[in-house]
Amino acid sequence: MDVVENYRSNCNKYIQIGKETEKLDANEKYCDVASIRVPETLTDLILELNKIFALDSVNVEYVQTLMTMYKSNPKEWRKFAKFDQHRYTRNLVDEGNGKFNLMLLCWNENQGSSIHSHANSHCFLKVLEGSVKEELYDWPSQHQDLASEPEQHGLECRKISTFNTNEVAYISDNIGLHRVENPSHTDKAVTLHLYSPPFQECYCFDKMTGHSTVSKMTFWSKFGKRTPFGKDCGIGVAENN
Ligand SMILES: [Fe+2]
Repeated sequence: MDVVENYRSNCNKYIQIGKETEKLDANEKYCDVASIRVPETLTDLILELNKIFALDSVNVEYVQTLMTMYKSNPKEWRKFAKFDQHRYTRNLVDEGNGKFNLMLLCWNENQGSSIHSHANSHCFLKVLEGSVKEELYDWPSQHQDLASEPEQHGLECRKISTFNTNEVAYISDNIGLHRVENPSHTDKAVTLHLYSPPFQECYCFDKMTGHSTVSKMTFWSKFGKRTPFGKDCGIGVAENN
């Protein structure tokens, strides 16, 4: 999916955060993408995101455009980028005053996520380094949940997209499920994720059967510091994004 197409497909969609009656006022402020000022640094971007998400509704296209406009500078985010040889890591960067979580995901060569949902939250994914592949899936039907013939009701990939450095993807449960991976055998990848509202667990799906399990979210590090072992990174707790 190219970025322009992605903008169009999400045009005029709004994240509802507050009361319905307050929606219009909020939309007027951060709606026109032509008025966006390019964030010069990651700090600029984070400050602007905090302003946007402080309001009661958020324009998806506006956020996606703003995040795209930030030109990735490794010097600004390297302190958050911590890799693990066994699986990709989630590294908290900003808590968005409770309205969103912003984090770096660090993918070693060929590391990938499971197929997962997003707990009714909205997910923006910006590539900071390398490229990632996204596989998009439909939700399993109710029939699949009955598991009468699970082997016949696996999940089929609906779409495969590649996102390159500085491009921004968007997904919510209304769009479907996805899995993300770094397809490169030789290069690492780093992605910046914004989730609103923040969430601590979601569903992971078995591709072959369509069956789901609840997965808790953990952070490998917070604000550049490794999360203490056993506190927030328990063994056996599934990762996800
Ligand atoms: Fe995701």
